[in-house]
Amino acid sequence: DMGYPDYGGGARVDHATMHHGGAEVTALTGPRDRAADVSITLVARAERIGLPDGRGVAGYTLNHASPGPEIRARQGQLVEVRLVNESVPDGVTLHWHGYDVPNAEDGVAGVTQDAVAPGQSHVYRFVAADAGTYWYHSHQVSHEQVRLGLFGALVVDPPTGAPAAVDRLALVHTYGGRRTIAGRPDETSVAAAPGSTVRVRLVNTDQGTARAWVSGAAFRLVAVDGRDRNAPPPVTGAAIVLPAGGRADVEFAVPDAGGAVRVDVGAGTALVVGPEGAVAPVTPEPKASIDLLSYGTPAPIGFDPATATRRFDYRIGRRFGFLDGRPGLWWTINGKLYPDVPMYMVSTGDVVRMTIANSSGETHPMHLHGHHAVVLSRNGVAATGSPWWTDSLEVADGETYEIAFIADNPGVWVDHCHNLSHAAEGLLAHLAYT
Ligand code: C2O
Ligand code: CU
Repeated sequence: DMGYPDYGGGARVDHATMHHGGAEVTALTGPRDRAADVSITLVARAERIGLPDGRGVAGYTLNHASPGPEIRARQGQLVEVRLVNESVPDGVTLHWHGYDVPNAEDGVAGVTQDAVAPGQSHVYRFVAADAGTYWYHSHQVSHEQVRLGLFGALVVDPPTGAPAAVDRLALVHTYGGRRTIAGRPDETSVAAAPGSTVRVRLVNTDQGTARAWVSGAAFRLVAVDGRDRNAPPPVTGAAIVLPAGGRADVEFAVPDAGGAVRVDVGAGTALVVGPEGAVAPVTPEPKASIDLLSYGTPAPIGFDPATATRRFDYRIGRRFGFLDGRPGLWWTINGKLYPDVPMYMVSTGDVVRMTIANSSGETHPMHLHGHHAVVLSRNGVAATGSPWWTDSLEVADGETYEIAFIADNPGVWVDHCHNLSHAAEGLLAHLAYT
C-alpha cells in the first residue's frame, strides 16, 4: 500500500492494510541463520514524560522513557529489536535514521510495513554493518510521534570498541518548549580526567536546525551523519550546524591544566565535561559555522560521479493546491503536489546524481532513506574538503545542492524533509528500484 506514506493529517490510522485480525504481526525479515548479538524489547506507550525540572508533559515513551534506551552494538553484530505497542493509538514503527538497513527493516508505515497497532508487535533484525552515530524513531504520524518522544539513539562501535576514552551521547530534543541535551534543559556534567580524549555524539532529534559550539578547547568534527571525516582540522570559534535528523561527533581533549570543556546547544543548555567541580568558560554562540564543503582533507569517494547513469531533479517549491482533498499551501516537488510526484526510478548499480534546489521560501533538511549521498557542489561551487557523506542535508531557501550516490540497496525508499511537519505537508518523494 503505497497510497499512504507517513504524512499524518488525513492518513492517520486508516492505512488500508493495517489490521490483520491477529494480535501479533511479527515479520522476521532480517538474517535468520544466526542468533542476535544485541537484543532488546522496546515497549511504546502513551504516557506522561517526567522532565528533570519536575514538570511532566503528555507524550510517548519507550520502556517508560524518552529518549528510549540507547541501542549500542559493535560493527558486524546482528541487532534484533522487538517493538511492542502497548498504547499508542495511531500505531507505531521504528525507523533507523541514517542506517542503511535492508528495505523491509526500514520501518516506514505504509511503505515498508504497516504501523504496529496497540496490542501488536514487530521484530526488526539487521546487521550493524556501519560504525557511527545514528538514531531511531517512529515513522507513523512522525511529525507528532517523534516530537512527543518516540525516539532513541543507535550507536555502532568499530570492532575495536568505543573510539575515545570518554564517549558521550548528546541527543538534542525539545520537550514542552524547552530544549534539552542528554536529557536535561540546563547543564549536564560529564566526568572526564584532565588530558583525556572525549567524544560527544550530537544528535538533532528536533524538527529545526540546531547549532552547537565548544568552549574551553579546540575540537575536531570527526564524523557527520555516521561517516568519519578525513583528517578533520582543529576548530575554534565556529559552530557546528546540526540539521534536523543530522548527527555530528566532536572530539576534544580536556585541558591538562585543569578546567572543563563546554558544549552548548543554546540558552544555557550545555554539557560540561571535565574533572568534578571544574569550570568551563562560557562563550557566546559564534556567528561562523563549519562549512563541510571545504572542511577536512579530500579522500576518494569510491565511485566516479561523472559516470552517472541517472540524473534527477528534486526542485522544492510551494503553492496553493489540494492534498488529500484539503485545500492549502503545500510543498511542491518539480512543481507537483503529493502524491502526483513520479517515483525516482533506479536499478541496482546505478550511479545517481540528484540536483536539490530550494525556492520555497523556507529551509528543508532533506533526508534520503537507505543510502548515504556525497555532496558534489553547493550553488555551483564544488566540494573540496573531506568527502561530505550525508543522510540529512540542510538546503536553505535559494540553495542548490548536487549530490550523488550508488543505488545499492534495492527496495522502495522515501526521500523527505525532516522538518517532519513539512513531510506531512507533502515534502516527500519515493525512490524505487526497477
Ligand atoms: Cu528520520 Cu524518514 O526519517
Ligand atoms: Cu522542510
